[in-house]
Amino acid sequence: MMATINMQQGYAAVLCVLAVLGLEAAAPGECELTRLLQDKLQYEMRLQYMKHYFPIDYTVQVQYEEVLRPSNITRMRNGTVSEAALRYLWFHVSSQAVLRIREVLPEKHPSWKYTQELCQLFDALGKEYSKYRQTDVETVVADLVKLIHSAGAESRSKAVRPKALLDNCLKVMRMLYGVPCRWEST
Ligand SMILES: *[C@@H]1O[C@H](CO)[C@@H](O)[C@H](O)[C@H]1NC(C)=O
Ligand SMILES: *[C@@H]1O[C@H](CO)[C@@H](O)[C@H](O)[C@H]1NC(C)=O
Repeated sequence: MMATINMQQGYAAVLCVLAVLGLEAAAPGECELTRLLQDKLQYEMRLQYMKHYFPIDYTVQVQYEEVLRPSNITRMRNGTVSEAALRYLWFHVSSQAVLRIREVLPEKHPSWKYTQELCQLFDALGKEYSKYRQTDVETVVADLVKLIHSAGAESRSKAVRPKALLDNCLKVMRMLYGVPCRWEST
């Protein structure tokens, strides 16, 4: 009996915290997963797997909307787009970027396994996102995400180096998760 009451109280407390922090807070699952991503995206790994193992000046074709730099975030942080929506956008752009890189790799390529591990982390992160806020993003972000997923190969008009895609992924991730996840060294 006591145990049941305590559990109910505990549950209510968790719901309260979520309600108060609302969508601006990154859930713990996101923080853990993005920390793992940060480890995987260390400079030495990006350099080796995304540059040294590719031909010199190798690029992949992406859409303009698949390039998300810190400057995009700065521009969109103008009061009309929530931090949660920006993280949602980052997630979609970044997981798409990893897919674009994987598309050009044969299974025996030395970077294949690395991109597979990144994919798995993004898959896990996708589950965190689908839980509680898919419908809560602002129209401008929802439209961008739709565009990113709807376009075919014919609309890819920008050539980007694989490492640049992951450089942006990491930089933007630090911008968006550093404060809510309390990363000290960002
Ligand atoms: C980021 O900005 C560039 C222009 O600097 C633009 O082409 C691109 O579509 C923007 N990305 C997103 C996801 O809005
Ligand atoms: C804020 O940014 C969004 C997305 O880039 C844009 O659509 C909107 O017009 C901007 N609003 C202001 C007030 O600058």
